[in-house]
Amino acid sequence: MRQKLLWSLKEMCLLFGFLCVLLHFSLHYPLPLPSRDDGSVHPTGTAPNDLALATKYLQQFYSFQADASGRRRRSRPSFSSKLKDMQSFFGLNRTGTLNSETMVLMKTPRCGVPDVDDYHNRRGNRWMKNLVTYDVGRYTSHLPVNTVDALIASALEVWAKASPLTFLRSFSHQADIMVEFVRNDHGDFFPFDGPDGTLAHAFGPGDGIGGDVHFDEAESWTAEYNGFNLFVVATHEFGHALGLKHSQNPESVMFPTYKSRKTHSLLSSEDIMNINTLYGPSNKWSNPSLRFSWNNPSSPWASASHLPGYMWIKHNNRNDVKEGPISNFMPRISGQIDAAYWVAQRSAVYLFNGTLFWTMKGTQVKGRVKNISSLGFPSWVRQIDAAVHIHKTVDTLFFTQNQYNEHDKTMSESSPRNISDDFPQIKGPISAAMYKDGCLHFFAGPDVYEYDIKQKKIIAVDKPSSWLGC
Ligand SMILES: *[C@@H]1O[C@H](CO)[C@@H](O)[C@H](O)[C@H]1NC(C)=O
Ligand SMILES: *[C@@H]1O[C@H](CO)[C@@H](O)[C@H](O)[C@H]1NC(C)=O
Ligand SMILES: *[C@@H]1O[C@H](CO)[C@@H](O)[C@H](O)[C@H]1NC(C)=O
Ligand SMILES: *[C@@H]1O[C@H](CO)[C@@H](O)[C@H](O)[C@H]1NC(C)=O
Ligand SMILES: [Zn+2]
Ligand SMILES: [Zn+2]
Repeated sequence: MRQKLLWSLKEMCLLFGFLCVLLHFSLHYPLPLPSRDDGSVHPTGTAPNDLALATKYLQQFYSFQADASGRRRRSRPSFSSKLKDMQSFFGLNRTGTLNSETMVLMKTPRCGVPDVDDYHNRRGNRWMKNLVTYDVGRYTSHLPVNTVDALIASALEVWAKASPLTFLRSFSHQADIMVEFVRNDHGDFFPFDGPDGTLAHAFGPGDGIGGDVHFDEAESWTAEYNGFNLFVVATHEFGHALGLKHSQNPESVMFPTYKSRKTHSLLSSEDIMNINTLYGPSNKWSNPSLRFSWNNPSSPWASASHLPGYMWIKHNNRNDVKEGPISNFMPRISGQIDAAYWVAQRSAVYLFNGTLFWTMKGTQVKGRVKNISSLGFPSWVRQIDAAVHIHKTVDTLFFTQNQYNEHDKTMSESSPRNISDDFPQIKGPISAAMYKDGCLHFFAGPDVYEYDIKQKKIIAVDKPSSWLGC
């Protein structure tokens, strides 16, 4: 029994249809450049180019709202007050004038994320899970693909080491963090500006574009100290993708301007403190070898067996798998789940534990916990081993030991039948079941059986590891 429970935990799969919701950001950009200054004080003799550059800089990074008509609105902070904010941020003299040290700083290559808070002023500032997926979409032409992969993985590892986070490359465009090298306008209202200036930007944690990191392909990306070191910039941008803001401390990797840094210890103590404030300290919940154990076909789950309530979500039409402790996906559910099924028509997931079951929509528990007796199960059924919903016929099958029940659309039960009578060659107990393209996939013992419903026979036997996409 104990053995079976382990299997059911380890192999549980859900078919989910995730919605990608684009968050709306409160960044005021792009804004028209004013035809002239808004009337605030600055030294006569400021080069018009510098004024234009400074205006654009303060608009982009300090939420300065220039009035396109040139008239100054009393309600809005003036150019010079925004300039003072910028000077304070970088530890310059708060002169409110475009002196040379200010102009030098404004011309220093930097991150495209604003320095002031309102960019972050939106729902949620952290991932509500410890396992974050990533992928590289468009690569750069400046570095070999392998080098980019290695630098991106190393930059994520910097944060993984300092936190309980684990990053998993999902080879899917639905990854939490999508990395792309793009030029100029690239579809997110934050166009890049060619060589120098803005090097990269990132979106804070969230669905859709949330968590994504864009690098300006116009920069000369390198793995060395010349040009812009991709590892250094990526570490900074991933900080944003995890919810961190810019730091005023030049030692912090979250300082906005680019500087060549020693790559062996990028994080300052402030960076470590900030990531720990968001995600807690680095006490890894899992054996770090877990991610690699998937490649070992002889004992794919060996190092996973001690994990509590772990789950994988396999998308029907996608190759990626999202994985992690159940509580990462469904914060209200901790501990063990025996079986689960997904009804696409209702966007609902049903989770079973012992004689109880929950209905979930997204990550929310809907309604009360119910007893499986309300589904018509007799009292001798103490646990559902596996459940699967077949959307074509709107039937749901529940497996318990060597028997199964078929429920139709109204969930009215039929009497239990022997699994082996109706699914020849399939022997219970079944730890998980899924339906895909006319076939049921039964996870039983160490194997996954692909069972063709029409032909009434097993057409393939697989290992769970291949099902889970690794
Ligand atoms: C601030 O101004 C003073 C004199 O006006 C100058 O000596 C000092 O170097 C300035 N500070 C910085 C950080 O440049
Ligand atoms: C499932 O039931 C067991 C035993 O009653 C309990 O310890 C566990 O927390 C339950 N799981 C959930 C997700 O509630
Ligand atoms: C669910 O109902 C059955 C039968 O009525 C009962 O034996 C069982 O204890 C109930 N489960 C819980 C957790 O209350
Ligand atoms: C299921 O199989 C068992 C023995 O293998 C048998 O005694 C029982 O009658 C069968 N049940 C049904 C509903 O066919
Ligand atoms: Zn930044
Ligand atoms: Zn972008």
